[in-house]
Amino acid sequence: MAVLTGAGISAESGVPTFRGPGGLWKDYKPEDLATPEAFARDPQLVWEWYNWRRETIHKAKPNSGHAALVRLEIQKPHFTLITQNVDGLHDMAGSGRMLKLHGDIWRMRCTVCGSNWPDRRATLPKLPPHCGCGGLARPGVVWFGEPLPEGMMQEAEHATLEAQVLLVVGTSAQVYPAASLIPLAKQAGARVIQVNLEPTPYSEIVDCALEGAAGEILPRLVE
Ligand code: OAD
Repeated sequence: MAVLTGAGISAESGVPTFRGPGGLWKDYKPEDLATPEAFARDPQLVWEWYNWRRETIHKAKPNSGHAALVRLEIQKPHFTLITQNVDGLHDMAGSGRMLKLHGDIWRMRCTVCGSNWPDRRATLPKLPPHCGCGGLARPGVVWFGEPLPEGMMQEAEHATLEAQVLLVVGTSAQVYPAASLIPLAKQAGARVIQVNLEPTPYSEIVDCALEGAAGEILPRLVE
């Protein structure tokens, strides 16, 4: 079994989704800030946005949806959690077998020497942060127009092709290549179950589209 999650699974923990209410920061869309071009133009602005997201996420705790996926992982011998989320709430809930397609907001990477390190402080004392080598640091996440970490998508595709069931939770399925796992699973003959508050572009092709909150539906599904 494979599970693909998006920002919707963390919504009930108080983390705003990207394309839902509360997701905009100072009227900027994520596509305006989460790009290498935006960072090159104005690293201070991009870091202010990430600092805002870090402060929000730092207060959040995993919810019953995250917990249900941990139970599923324990129950199923073959299980892979593929997440687009960078918030670390799956880790905090106790998920182990996980592929983080879009990286991790709690990691930093130096734009000069390439070293990377964890930093879990809610608020960074000085923006933009720098590496010990003096180089400008960036968040350890994947931005629009950037490739996913090496080998990550291949692993996600492999897990999807092996799975008899793909559970898709709380993603608008608009960002690629992550969303391509949904038609891939269908083509490979897996059953695809979607859990979302609203329809997505894939609602028509999935085997079962459950409309509702992940924190309510997932615990019932796992039982
Ligand atoms: P989006 O904000 O695009 O979509 C969130 C989805 O979750 C929507 O379809 C909502 O209907 C649904 N949703 C909201 N609350 C929910 C709840 N309680 N239960 C179930 N579903 C709920 O977020 P993603 O699809 O994750 O990428 O966005 C994909 C990527 O775009 C992100 O990883 C990020 C973003 O820009 C990067 O930063 C590279």
